[in-house]
Amino acid sequence: MALKSKKFRWERKGLLGLRELSAEEITYILDTAEGFEQISSRTVKKAPALRGKTVVNLFFEDSTRTRNSFALAASRLSADVVEFTKKSSSVSKGETLLDTARNLEAMGIDIVVIRHSAGGAAKLLSRNINACVVNAGDGFCEHPTQGLLDVYTIRKLRGSLDGLKIAIVGDIVHSRVARSDMWAMTKLGAEVTFVGPATLMPGQVEQLPVKVSYSLDEVIEKVDVINMLRIQFERLGGNPFPSVREYSHYFGLTVERMKRAKEDILVMHPGPINRGLEMESEVADGKNSVILEQVTNGVAVRMAVLFLVNQAAAQKK
Ligand code: CP
Repeated sequence: MALKSKKFRWERKGLLGLRELSAEEITYILDTAEGFEQISSRTVKKAPALRGKTVVNLFFEDSTRTRNSFALAASRLSADVVEFTKKSSSVSKGETLLDTARNLEAMGIDIVVIRHSAGGAAKLLSRNINACVVNAGDGFCEHPTQGLLDVYTIRKLRGSLDGLKIAIVGDIVHSRVARSDMWAMTKLGAEVTFVGPATLMPGQVEQLPVKVSYSLDEVIEKVDVINMLRIQFERLGGNPFPSVREYSHYFGLTVERMKRAKEDILVMHPGPINRGLEMESEVADGKNSVILEQVTNGVAVRMAVLFLVNQAAAQKK
């Protein structure tokens, strides 16, 4: 596989978050993903890189994109994939996360991909099991492969993130995507603005490497990329805005608002979309939307992550 950053050596046997990664490490993952992208367009979508390895999808929260994307990424690299679902597991009998992971590890697994509602769950696992651990979303903390596929998509379409102005809009406080995006985008040279109502901004937001705006109308004309976040109703305690209609009026990406955006603005959303709330359907499916390209690119990015952590683990043996 041709890699741009040839001198660099990836040494992490897990991926817990993007905060701890250097720009060089992020770039290396993106370059590696480029090498894997064409495998998904072949008639036979297979490469042997993880043959004989077993990947467990350990998901304690629901997922459509991330779970299936990891499963496809692992299977396209010829790994065996085990799907763990909380509902049909012994978690319902009181088994802990660590006991669950240790029991799976006792069956001979190589990589655990974990999604959990508790921030730090991936880190906890990585300290207590020998298998590689990849964070597929932990609480409000990080969703590193979403951050990677977002910057991969922007870099593919714009060549570089350096100097780009990016708005991340909506439910920032509950969003692990916003955090992973912020780290990846700023490390690669973009200027990021968090936009939303004050009730959905994280505490001490001024300490983060972002600008803050409480008005989408003030930023819409200036940005090259806009990433609309899902309102996480399942995590909202109380009412952070007076009504869904009012939120949509001030922070929704409407056809009307899009008329004031740059002609070539990239419209992103990590999914799932609340259509008519975060954005109107005409925008979600419109000419500037790259939402499904994000999903497509996620498979190549996750192939790269699984490949690199496995390679690092093999080097450490
Ligand atoms: N973007 C994302 O994490 O989507 P899922 O919850 O469907 O995995």
